[in-house]
Amino acid sequence: SHTAITELLAGTVAVDSQVTVKGWIRTRRDSKAGISFLAVHDGSCFDPIQAVVPNSLNNYEEVTRLTAGCSVAVTGVLVASEGQGQAFEIQANKVEVLGWVENPDTYPMAAKRHSIEYLREHAHLRPRTNVIGAVTRVRNCLSQAIHRFFHERGYMWISTPIITASDCEGAGEMFRVSTLDMQNLPRTDKGDIDYSEDFFGKEAFLTVSGQLNGETYASAMSKIYTFGPTFRAENSNTSRHLAEFWMVEPEVAFADLDDIAALAEDMLKYAFKAVLEERRDDMEFFAQRIEKQAITRLESFIDKDFAQVDYTDAIEILKNCGKKFEFPVDWGVDLQSEHERYLAEEHFNAPVVIKNYPRDIKAFYMRQNEDGKTVAAMDVVAPGIGEIIGGSQREERLDVLDKRLEEMGLDKEDYSWYRDLRKYGTVPHSGFGLGFERLVAYVTGMGNVRDVIAFPRTKGSATY
Ligand code: 4AD
Ligand code: MG
Repeated sequence: SHTAITELLAGTVAVDSQVTVKGWIRTRRDSKAGISFLAVHDGSCFDPIQAVVPNSLNNYEEVTRLTAGCSVAVTGVLVASEGQGQAFEIQANKVEVLGWVENPDTYPMAAKRHSIEYLREHAHLRPRTNVIGAVTRVRNCLSQAIHRFFHERGYMWISTPIITASDCEGAGEMFRVSTLDMQNLPRTDKGDIDYSEDFFGKEAFLTVSGQLNGETYASAMSKIYTFGPTFRAENSNTSRHLAEFWMVEPEVAFADLDDIAALAEDMLKYAFKAVLEERRDDMEFFAQRIEKQAITRLESFIDKDFAQVDYTDAIEILKNCGKKFEFPVDWGVDLQSEHERYLAEEHFNAPVVIKNYPRDIKAFYMRQNEDGKTVAAMDVVAPGIGEIIGGSQREERLDVLDKRLEEMGLDKEDYSWYRDLRKYGTVPHSGFGLGFERLVAYVTGMGNVRDVIAFPRTKGSATY
């Protein structure tokens, strides 16, 4: 058996006890005095542990041939370290080489700085680096914190389907799921593709959002959330868009727009706190190497209310700020990333909740406001990344919903199950979707969502 390095460095294992660690070599340094220093990492924490190997070991010659990436089992005595850096190190009395690196000169993760683009091209090896290791631990911490947050508040985690027939956002960005022979597509008399011969007997897609399914469960269990993969055939090649990303979607019965905005704020603060408490080591690395304010900005947001602004007021701010935007601003336009970033970074310098958008730029399910022009929608926009959350109060009035479906040219038949929720004990309800990669990118300061998911899927790229 062996011990995780994080436990050894945390000081919970008695000094002078015999321990074994298993992991990979990050660096090796030999002293003239016949001692070899190995830095071994196992992914459990940011720091590697140092193993001090004396030349009295019978395989010492082998040890001096270890290079970055070799896997080892090191057994020895845990001692307080005299050098700076870690508080503890291992005085090795046995080093077992588990796996050599075939050709150290061509090892893609040799111990030097690699560009983030280079790491992306080696997604199978990049978790061995400092930076992707840290991202992976922070991502895990955030997802555990989010589950804990909802669990503590009595929310039920619902697994909504990945294969679906409905386009929740109505943006036409769905990936088709089909078993039809593309070389030989069955045709109807009219010449259209005949999906009745397809696996599901109709067109099917990868889900863009679990929301509509989530609403059905909120209409019975009161408080639910989903946390799963979602897919968008988005044509945008940006640092914030993935074709496959993870979304957290709470859906809450008897809640209005303000309730759901407050929930979003509480959830984010809870997640920030968890990261600062549990992943101090990784966050210090990000603050040093990636984003100077990575820690301080999270700390400051925990203690103060997020800014809140109506879309209409946000437009006024943007129009009067004197800044020239690539996309001109006027009431009715969808906010572009440059607008969101101006608001969050320069005007409010904090995450900001933007509310009550024009209904014409939003999805069919959002609840119409009294003014007839806007819907009870909200986005949470963060400095450095822009929109991380999109949500709304849902239209619970059947007649208003039906009118909207009609206006948008959507077939009522397709939504009969969704309309049933409004026919049978309808209630006010609200929810939001958090783009999980955008949250991780924001917290770590990593500039690109491709670097905070293990195997990024983007237009033109689905390796592995
Ligand atoms: O704003 P969106 O499109 O909202 C919905 O899908 C709602 N049905 C959610 C709900 O109310 N339950 O997406 C929600 C969030 C965005 O704010 C963004 O953070 C993220 O999902 N997102 C993406 N993240 C990465 N890559 C993409 N292509 C994304 N598209 C949206
Ligand atoms: Mg949105």
